[in-house]
Amino acid sequence: MTKKITVIGSINMDLVTQTDIVPNMGETVLGQQFFTIPGGKGANQAVAAAKMGAEVHMIGLVGDDAFGHEYIDYLRKQQIDVSNVKPVTHGRTGVATIVLSGGDNSIIVVPGANNMVTPELVNSMEGKIAASDLLLLQLEIPIESVEMAVQIAKKHEKQIILNPAPFQPLREELIENVDYITPNEYEAELLLASVKDPIALREKLIITKGSKGVTFYEKGLECQQDSFKVETVDTTGAGDTFNGAFAVAILEGKTITEASKIAAAAGALSVTKLGAQSGMPTRTEVEEFLRKRKGDSA
Ligand code: RIB
Ligand code: NA
Repeated sequence: MTKKITVIGSINMDLVTQTDIVPNMGETVLGQQFFTIPGGKGANQAVAAAKMGAEVHMIGLVGDDAFGHEYIDYLRKQQIDVSNVKPVTHGRTGVATIVLSGGDNSIIVVPGANNMVTPELVNSMEGKIAASDLLLLQLEIPIESVEMAVQIAKKHEKQIILNPAPFQPLREELIENVDYITPNEYEAELLLASVKDPIALREKLIITKGSKGVTFYEKGLECQQDSFKVETVDTTGAGDTFNGAFAVAILEGKTITEASKIAAAAGALSVTKLGAQSGMPTRTEVEEFLRKRKGDSA
């Protein structure tokens, strides 16, 4: 039976400008290309998980505007259950202004409707959360809503993965209730510095470090999954692809080591194409890639 993942999180339209020169404040430069392309950490992770073969139910909000309607249609085409992605009239679809230069990026997110994913809304989704096997979360909706979602999922004994991005300090109770926390290197440092018991936290961390691979801890021992070398076009959404793929692998009962390898491969493939969701691989593509790269990575 296909396993079900519920993703509660952000939906942004990414406005991507590719430029050789990044302007300083007050400066104007000429860029090379502009794209309007689906993004937002929640939706990115939902699409990544769906492409990896899971049945995905997304909970989130967009504005009652062109971006919002376009986005809902698009998610539906990705085989995602969008019955709980609703357009709201009192807020606009979240947008991320992304400056892309030399494969790296800087991002400004204006959350808009994502901020209206309230704890009350999440609470009304208890039945949906209870009907899925795993809950996948990020921090681009209000943290109280993330906390509410975790409480509900915990009550129903669901697996919970939290991608703590963009970084915010987490309450101890939240940390206790989630199974895996997937920060990048920078977020991991901030998180470890902010808690009373970094040793207990460490056991839950799956730290994604880009070209430096993935670090996680098993019984106090540090483990490492090396990255796969690829031609990098755009790193936007690589972490999200990792999270979506990792969630699917964990759901299937894979070990953390196996799941990290599959997710690292998915993340690597995603950076070879421009845009957060372009390049996200299907299950078959990941398996093929891993076969070809056998021995390439530990
Ligand atoms: O993680 C990448 C995402 O962060 C982008 O798609 C952008 O929308 C921002 O939310
Ligand atoms: Na990409």
